[in-house]
Amino acid sequence: MRIAIGSDHAGFLQKAPLAEYLRSQGHEVVDCGPATDDRCDYPDFGDKVARLVAAGKVDRGVLICGTGLGIAMTADKVPGVRAVPIQTVEFARLCREHNNANVIGLSGRFVSLMDNEAILDTFLTTEFAGGRHTGRVEKIMREDDPSFAGVPEDFGL
Ligand code: RB5
Repeated sequence: MRIAIGSDHAGFLQKAPLAEYLRSQGHEVVDCGPATDDRCDYPDFGDKVARLVAAGKVDRGVLICGTGLGIAMTADKVPGVRAVPIQTVEFARLCREHNNANVIGLSGRFVSLMDNEAILDTFLTTEFAGGRHTGRVEKIMREDDPSFAGVPEDFGL
């Protein structure tokens, strides 16, 4: 697969080893930065990786910040992207089988490199299950349609 990887300063320490790990597994890796561990803003790098995924330039995105939360939130704002923060192998499997996630947010501060490698193995090898999950994922993606906006019903608010 072709994979884009990015982080902030809090995920920087794991970025190069994870990129190397992915290459050792036969993947092509595009490093979207940062180039140093200087303090930086995770949205800048989450956005770059997400846009490569949305444009179809890469197959998947891998993002690392302190928690994996903020950088995944950023990526998920880009139309076409389904980004999730993941801390366990089981959730890595489920985000692929049920949600067809194409970008993963990893924690560089709370999850070890070895555990993140195992999470990535699962994220990259698990197929979307389709079936009953297809329509649900389609409903997520309708949020990208500009005509699908506003409050759908009057809840008396
Ligand atoms: C940086 O201190 C930290 O806030 C960031 O890496 C991330 O955890 C945000 O979600």
